[in-house]
Amino acid sequence: MNEIDWKSLSFGYMKTDFNVRSYYRDGKWSELEVSSSEMINLHIAATCLHYGQEAFEGLKAFKGKDGKIRVFRMEENALRLQRSCEGILMAPLPVEKFNEAVITVIRQNMRFVPPYESGSSLYIRPLLIGTSPQIGVHAASEYLFMVLVTPVGPYFKEGFKTTPVVILRAYDRAAPLGTGTYKVGGNYAASLVAGEKAHQLGYSAVLYLDAKEKRYVDECGPANFFGIRDNTYITPASTSILPSITNKSLTQLAESIGMKVERRQIAVEELATFEEAGMCGTAAVISPILRIDDLDKNISYHYAKDGAPGKTCVKLYNMLRAIQYGEAPDRFGWVTVIDE
Ligand code: PLP
Ligand code: COI
Repeated sequence: MNEIDWKSLSFGYMKTDFNVRSYYRDGKWSELEVSSSEMINLHIAATCLHYGQEAFEGLKAFKGKDGKIRVFRMEENALRLQRSCEGILMAPLPVEKFNEAVITVIRQNMRFVPPYESGSSLYIRPLLIGTSPQIGVHAASEYLFMVLVTPVGPYFKEGFKTTPVVILRAYDRAAPLGTGTYKVGGNYAASLVAGEKAHQLGYSAVLYLDAKEKRYVDECGPANFFGIRDNTYITPASTSILPSITNKSLTQLAESIGMKVERRQIAVEELATFEEAGMCGTAAVISPILRIDDLDKNISYHYAKDGAPGKTCVKLYNMLRAIQYGEAPDRFGWVTVIDE
């Protein structure tokens, strides 16, 4: 293998040695298979292709200074995949099978776990698809669960730097009672046009508002939103956003340093009152927001006046990373250490 330049990795796909697969047939999930092929053999009428029966997850493994590999909140991702499956009528995968698959795929690809010094990590992408044929709109009877891994750097190329985001009122990502709380491919398809437009205009992401009234903040394209004011961490409650595991972790970290946490609707006008704002997620980690431009209303909300991340964003980012890289004790039980 060519030398990997671990320090300049971006968030992209790189071929690794193996992936793992389990098949759901006759009401049962098969034993895991380890495969070196990047390809799958799929029926032309599989429901994932026609009717979007697809759900995925995203989690990371980190190599610590002590050489140990730690996976962050694997169980939470397993449970969220089950919810996503139930949300689009797919066969849910047992948590134990998910955990076994994640651990196996990491062990099979040890040489792709970025070294501690690089600040990069191994991104783990589980996905589950309907594979049996249907032409009427019905759920499949057979499913395939796979996990691939790829070493990644920061999602936003700036890394831990502030970037501008944009409100584009002409686009919605998910309906109030739709599939926004599930991690299903269709939500991301629905975000592509607005995301591309935002990038062309020089923004790192779209900040979506609630689709019904356009009065409240929902979330960003690939991440949840939070604002900081008066020692309080404020993040939206909404029926159309993904329950971010990073966000949930940050609320616990914030409370642990004496901050208040509020999970509630955030009116758009409230954006003017925050001292800091950020996006958070597995890929995004914490990506502090420089400015939010509400283009249709011609209003801008400014956060990082000198362009630097705010002090609370920095503090929470450092606390989270320290747990992930094993530099701080795992006091919440978030980490699974992979034995070599
Ligand atoms: N919101 C969306 C739409 C996402 O795709 C993600 C990424 O997974 C998140 C939020 C953050 O979720 P998590 O912190 O569990 O990765
Ligand atoms: C993640 O943070 O894991 C995501 O899935 C975000 C994006 C890459 C879809």
